Amino acid sequence: MNSAARGPVESAGDTSLPWWTSAVIYQIYPRSFADGNGDGMGDLPGISSRLPYLSALGIDAIWLSPFYLSPQADAGYDVADYRTVDPRFGHLTDFDAMLAQAHGLGIRVIVDLVPNHTSDEHVWFQQALTSPEGSAARDRYLFRPGKGANGKMPPNNWQSIFGGNAWTQVAENGAPGQWYLHLFDTKQPDLNWDNPEVREEMRSVLRFWLDRGVDGFRVDVAHGLVKEKGLPDWSGQAAMVEGSEASPQAPHTASPEALNTVIEPPAGVPAHRPKPAMDPSSPFLDQDGVHEIYRDWNLVLKEYDGDRMMVAEAWVEPPARLARYVRADEMQQAFNFDFLLAGWDARRMAKAIDESLDAAAGVGAPATWVLSNHDTVRHPSRFGLGDPTTFPKGIGADDEQPDEEIGLQRGRAATLIMLGLPGSAYLYQGEELGLPEHTTLEAQHRQDPTFFRTGGVERGRDGCRAPLPWQSAAPGFGFGTSAGVDGGHPVPAQQPWLPQPASFADYAVDREESDPDSTLTFYRTALALRARLNTGHGLLIWSPLNKPGDGILAYRNGALLVLANFGGAPIALPDGYAVELASTPTAADRGSLAANSSAWLVQQT
Ligand code: GLC
Repeated sequence: MNSAARGPVESAGDTSLPWWTSAVIYQIYPRSFADGNGDGMGDLPGISSRLPYLSALGIDAIWLSPFYLSPQADAGYDVADYRTVDPRFGHLTDFDAMLAQAHGLGIRVIVDLVPNHTSDEHVWFQQALTSPEGSAARDRYLFRPGKGANGKMPPNNWQSIFGGNAWTQVAENGAPGQWYLHLFDTKQPDLNWDNPEVREEMRSVLRFWLDRGVDGFRVDVAHGLVKEKGLPDWSGQAAMVEGSEASPQAPHTASPEALNTVIEPPAGVPAHRPKPAMDPSSPFLDQDGVHEIYRDWNLVLKEYDGDRMMVAEAWVEPPARLARYVRADEMQQAFNFDFLLAGWDARRMAKAIDESLDAAAGVGAPATWVLSNHDTVRHPSRFGLGDPTTFPKGIGADDEQPDEEIGLQRGRAATLIMLGLPGSAYLYQGEELGLPEHTTLEAQHRQDPTFFRTGGVERGRDGCRAPLPWQSAAPGFGFGTSAGVDGGHPVPAQQPWLPQPASFADYAVDREESDPDSTLTFYRTALALRARLNTGHGLLIWSPLNKPGDGILAYRNGALLVLANFGGAPIALPDGYAVELASTPTAADRGSLAANSSAWLVQQT
């Protein structure tokens, strides 16, 4: 363990640095945050109505998952028009109003950019389908001839990250024609980043949102845009997918019926082991060529005032590889998935912290931290499993069910570890309530394409996307407001788009707001203290108390000593320190720190 002071050294104590160096950024998943018009789907007016709640929570910025025009085959990560708000979420005027209100409250706004692929309903892909092989319209995507007799086999052996084949064949005048690449769903064709028109279009999309006043972008699949030249077979693929053959799929046609087809569990898709989220050793991820794109975008952002930023979603290893995305002339931040993947384990967490700080310092960037997002099982539920370092691809009713109480206890303890660290932290909506994963969602309600494309082997990501509970006693736990008035009577809101578990009543905002021991009160207190102690701009020094091998994690950051107990028995609190905040009201009583707990301590003078 490195004993030196660790962190963005040049920034220690300096509050004049760009806001994102130390910001707490709250991820909003628009369809599940708040439903302003009662149609069962969250929307931009819903977000606006809850901005005062976020301001009171004490966050610095919000990041909005996609709200653009989309057939919603992957919950909006399939964009049909990058400059239009999907009517399900409102209109551009609603976005502008939300942005102005957020800025008025001192909250910055980051939007999601999805540059790796479009929707198959994007005008470009529609043009590609009706244009001949070799045309300029096809060159914006990755169309290739098939292999074997009559091109019946896909161009290479790549499998979709969502399961099933990464290639789909299109119909050419009624006959089977070329294949197009989609690293994700069939309805998410990959763009060709060697094409200058693609590059110019995405620059223009950046400017469109920068002109409206956004403070930054979260860049989706930032490590995926460039593929290895020649699109070679991947030797790692065979080991990952058992019994994988090119699964014959219906050719994609330009007919409206085909485009609106709901993706059913594809018959004949071979069951296979869940894969690692995204394996960075593949020929389609983390290619050196992506960095040129981010250097280019860095210059676009520099045309604007006000410290605009980009944060990379790049599942790459090791941290030194990730640090390449945040070199001075590229992006400003990258999500720290190493920290997220560490699980509830002192050794793994200490290692992730150490390596992340080293890697970030190596390129002069501040670190970031995150425990949950819209793609992962919520951390209190992961930490409540028998092995709290496992990373399931969703949880179903037949799977091991997490221990909700222990999970939440550990979840809160991890929050104090995270918020005491130097750098910037990301929160996922609902974690401030201690929300668990919805672990018993029935198949008929599931919507995540990963569930369908793996024949249900992966339960998918719906469980962390259940709509937020605002009022414990209201229908849909107050997710949606009334859908209007009919004959003088309010029309009840529609059922939320995804069912919420009954236990959400206990986690509803109205209940937690009035409870001094609630997770919401705990987050508010922690965020206020973090701001007061300026931990985001601090330096980490491992304390002599730090003994990850014995389940104890301990570091200092300025005036703060962060102590966490991963073991099964209480440990003694050090003499001469006062408890500023403990992860539960009784965690740091009578001179000891309970198991599965953490505390922020300050030396007494
Ligand atoms: C990213 C998003 C995820 C989406 C995928 C394809 O990983 O976070 O939700 O399904 O990209 O766009």
